Amino acid sequence: MIPINKPWLDDDAKQEVLNVLAENSLTSPAKNGGKRVQDFENLLKSYLNVKHVIAVNSGTSAIHASLLSLGIKPGDEVILPSFTFVATANSVVATGAKPVFADINTDDYTIDFSDVEKKITDKTKAIIPVHLYGHPSNMERLYAIAKSKSIKVVEDACQSLGSLYNEKQSGTIGDLGCFSFYASKVLTTGEGGAIVTNDDNIYEELLMIRNHGMVNGYDTRVFGLNLRLPELCAAIGISQMRKLNQMLEIRKANAELLSEGLKSFEQKGILKLPKESENNKFNWYLFTVGFKDNSHRELVKDNLLKAGIGATVYYDPPVHKTPYYDNDTDKSGSSADNLLPNTTWAWNHVLSLPVHPLMAKDDLNAIIRTFENTL
Ligand SMILES: Cc1ncc(COP(=O)(O)O)c(C=O)c1O
Repeated sequence: MIPINKPWLDDDAKQEVLNVLAENSLTSPAKNGGKRVQDFENLLKSYLNVKHVIAVNSGTSAIHASLLSLGIKPGDEVILPSFTFVATANSVVATGAKPVFADINTDDYTIDFSDVEKKITDKTKAIIPVHLYGHPSNMERLYAIAKSKSIKVVEDACQSLGSLYNEKQSGTIGDLGCFSFYASKVLTTGEGGAIVTNDDNIYEELLMIRNHGMVNGYDTRVFGLNLRLPELCAAIGISQMRKLNQMLEIRKANAELLSEGLKSFEQKGILKLPKESENNKFNWYLFTVGFKDNSHRELVKDNLLKAGIGATVYYDPPVHKTPYYDNDTDKSGSSADNLLPNTTWAWNHVLSLPVHPLMAKDDLNAIIRTFENTL
């Protein structure tokens, strides 16, 4: 089976991990983290061209800690898309605030700004745009809306490391940006994440939040948790950073091959392909297509799976239709399907295809052949 994503681990990563074991330095409770955590943060800092990076133990921790650092609390509302991994919404619930779901657009499946505007109330304290599949949200529009109302922007860039919006790295444009290094992501540490910000005060707050609110040990000053990234994970991250550009180039080449091979279906009007633009460059975390007919999607998906290709429907169902959120309108903002029509459309019509660096050309051609034999 060709999985939808697969980490590329080599001898260099193994050696980095062995070095940590040899040094017996598995983790560090220091305020600034262990040696490898700091090295990893510095590599990310220069890659992303941002002032501060705080490595944490997951993307979920990154979003949760970001919201805590902004003082988000019970009684506040946070606007986010429902068409995302549930971690985005769970991070909001963990602060005691209420997630309010906005619809997406059907061009690139990112948050729909006209719907965001409709959902803003005087309780809205933050907006979380999700750069889904590695497609950067329109940050200019979002900022214009948020700034005019003193609302903070936390970018969920968990899927978009390396994607560019107006030549800036996604995740570095909002007040804070959050990355995930889970095993399926374009760069992995197994489990892991990072928060980026240019704000010195938020940075200092986050260093405490990552470590039980402490500065010198046993002097808890704010609410925090153990969100530390182990040195073992940071060591893998350092190795992954060495080949990040190469991994992104292969993803791009794979995406170009699929775009070329599938374009005739778009010309026939039965398939929508993902498209970059001058201002929007993708990291090609996933290659997500939209089918005009749901029945076509189901047929293609089944045939791809039969051919051993892990084509996947993310997010089935979207967050507001999962049992936890659907049963509690207080949490979900709204449980009515027809209030998020584009989310419902995407749920029923999109399919994500693998373009990860470990795919052979034959695997990509097998995807194209399956479309040709099915449609
Ligand atoms: C959009 C999105 N948000 C948040 C997360 C949470 O990241 P993690 O799994 O590292 O906690 C993920 C990844 O899994 C994600 O894809």
